[in-house]
Amino acid sequence: MPKIIVGRDSEDVEKHGLDGTGLLGKHLVGEKEEAHMANPVYIDLARPHVMGIFGKRGTGKSYSMGTIAEELHDSEISDNLSTIIIDSMGVYWSMERPNERAAGILEDWGFKPESYDANIYIPAGKESEFSKKDIPYTDTFTINPGELSSEEWCMALQIDRNSDMGVLLDRTITKLKETADENYRVRHIRKGIEKFDFNNSTVRGLDNRLKNADEWGVFGKESSLEGLTDRGEMSIIDMSVFGEMSAGWSVRALVVGLLCKRILRERMDARRIEEIDEMQGLQKNEMPITWMLIDEAHQFLPSDGKTPATDPLLQWVKVGREPGVSLVLATQQPAKLHPNALSQCDLVLSHRLTAKQDMESLSEIMQTYMRKGIKQYIDGLPDEPGTGIVLDDNSERIFPLKTRPRKSWHAGGTPDAFND
Ligand SMILES: Nc1ncnc2c1ncn2[C@@H]1O[C@H](COP(=O)(O)OP(=O)(O)OP(=O)(O)O)[C@@H](O)[C@H]1O
Ligand SMILES: [Mg+2]
Repeated sequence: MPKIIVGRDSEDVEKHGLDGTGLLGKHLVGEKEEAHMANPVYIDLARPHVMGIFGKRGTGKSYSMGTIAEELHDSEISDNLSTIIIDSMGVYWSMERPNERAAGILEDWGFKPESYDANIYIPAGKESEFSKKDIPYTDTFTINPGELSSEEWCMALQIDRNSDMGVLLDRTITKLKETADENYRVRHIRKGIEKFDFNNSTVRGLDNRLKNADEWGVFGKESSLEGLTDRGEMSIIDMSVFGEMSAGWSVRALVVGLLCKRILRERMDARRIEEIDEMQGLQKNEMPITWMLIDEAHQFLPSDGKTPATDPLLQWVKVGREPGVSLVLATQQPAKLHPNALSQCDLVLSHRLTAKQDMESLSEIMQTYMRKGIKQYIDGLPDEPGTGIVLDDNSERIFPLKTRPRKSWHAGGTPDAFND
């Protein structure tokens, strides 16, 4: 059976075959109810990619992202990879449980239910909330407030940089960086804002926001985000505890922004060492290729406005191929995703979409090689979760597919009100 490998050029296919690929699903041949599954569709995991996963509600985006995480972990090259899942809604902790519910379907695919050894990290100040809800976790994380620039603070606290509060914050942070380098906490910033001559309501207003920020439970003495990129590890950053609170997405973006900056910096240093080794004829891989999987990605990298994660993520997208970082961005609405990220996607898995603007933004990325419109491809899909199309910039081809069933439990299932 001829194999379909997306995201891999012919040279790599010839040299490595299926090594370093993962099974995404099976090619769907025929349309609608007539469609049947044919050849397996594999995805390249060995090279850096920017991948978009799209589809309207309940079509299988989070599920598919979990499938990719499973494949990264199961791959024979997993020792050269590390996986970080940014879990905003708290649906990935269940990867630690086998998907017994789908044992029958898994058997048809030649698989068994499996549990995955994932490290789940939660904000240090929110341990009791997780314990109360009985949600398992491995460890906590903190970020060092001293690492944030005043621009990042303004974005996180939703303050206009040019407002009185923004100016006061900027002066305070500048002063603290001069006197304490990166060794200051939120309480020092709160004390610092009192020392400038601003009117009382500005000082009180800013103090209030800083006090709230301290309650996010993410700030500590150091940023403990290092271990996350260890070889062969899968790390889940569970930030569901921020729920829909107004600053919820800013805090999440702050964490993602810092994480991206740190990984990119480490990867670039490692790459330099690797290159020197290569020049001297040594083959060494200092740091694994990091895959960051971000669900609800439009909240971090929106088409309108800026979050603390915008610049770091755009930098990943722009230079990621060189240092070796991969990004998977899942969202309901590709039209709401930053256009620079969208245009850099070399792989797209799109489940069913209906909004015209979303289909148009998809068409724009891959219009050069489409024989028919995106809408026609999507309309041809059978109406069931897990069906979609893969657009592969490498081969300039489009494949309708059904994604494979998950080996681990998916906690984000659509609830129903039946008594069964
Ligand atoms: N390949 C598949 N095989 C079987 N079932 C699937 C498959 N893909 C998705 N599903 C089913 O579809 C349901 C919804 O998927 P998922 O939670 O990924 O939706 P979503 O697109 O992330 O939705 P939302 O936008 O609301 O987050 C899953 O709980 C699962 O039962
Ligand atoms: Mg989802």
